[in-house]
Amino acid sequence: MSDDVLAESSLFAALDDGAAEALRSSMTEVTLERGAVLFTEGEPGDRLYLIAEGKVKLGATSNDGRETLLAILGPGEMFGELSLFDPGVRTATATALTDVRLLGLGNADLRPWLTGRPEVALSLLGALAQRLRRTNEAMADLVFSDVPGRVAKALLDLAERFGQPLPDGGFHVVHDLTQEELAQLVGASRETVNKALADFQNRGWIRLEQRSVDLLEVERLQRRAH
Ligand code: CMP
Repeated sequence: MSDDVLAESSLFAALDDGAAEALRSSMTEVTLERGAVLFTEGEPGDRLYLIAEGKVKLGATSNDGRETLLAILGPGEMFGELSLFDPGVRTATATALTDVRLLGLGNADLRPWLTGRPEVALSLLGALAQRLRRTNEAMADLVFSDVPGRVAKALLDLAERFGQPLPDGGFHVVHDLTQEELAQLVGASRETVNKALADFQNRGWIRLEQRSVDLLEVERLQRRAH
C-alpha cells in the first residue's frame, strides 16, 4: 500500500500520522480483478471505498437499458459515500476497470471520525463539493457543447488524472476504456465519438492506441474543448 496515495486522499488529508494509522486499521482491503462488479446500482450500501491501486468506473443504466458512465476514478479517490451520508441505495454500479485494490470503510467505523474530528468531515465535504462542481459542468457541457468539444474535454480530464508527460510535450494517457466506454463517458453514440477521435487524429492532435491515447497538441484540444 502506498502511503502517498492515502495521504493525498480527502479522507486522510487532514490527519496526522497517528490518526491516519488508526483510521487505516479500521479499513478492510478488497481486491478485484478487471471487470469484476463491486456493487450494483439500486442495492443497499453501507460502506465507502478508497482506491489504493487501479481504476474503477461508475456507471448508471437508464430505464431502456442504455448505459452511461458517471466517472472514472483512480488512486486516492473515494466513492460509495452517497448512500452513507444520505442513507439509501447505491446510485451507480461500481466496476473494476483494471485489477484494483480498495480500502473499504463501514458506516459504523466512519461515524466517530466525522463527529470527533471535524477536519475529516470538512475534507469529505470538500470532496463532495468538487464532485458537484464537476457534475454541474458535465451537465452544462451536455447542453452547450458539441460532441467533439466534449470528447476533447474528456481526453484532457483523463490526462489530468492519468496522464504521463511525453518527452516531446503532451501526455501519454492510459485510460483502460474501450471505445464504447469512452462514448458512454462523453454521453454520445460510439459512431459520433469515433468520428471526433478520427478527426483529432487526422489533424495530428492525438495518437490513438488500444486503451490509451497520446495527446500531442494539448493547446488545440483545450481550445476545442471551450
Ligand atoms: P453511492 O451512491 O453509495 O454508490 C455509487 C457511488 O458513485 C456514489 O455513492 C458516489 O460515490 C459515486 N457517484 C455517483 N454519482 C457520481 C458522479 N456524478 N460523479 C462521481 N461519482 C459519482
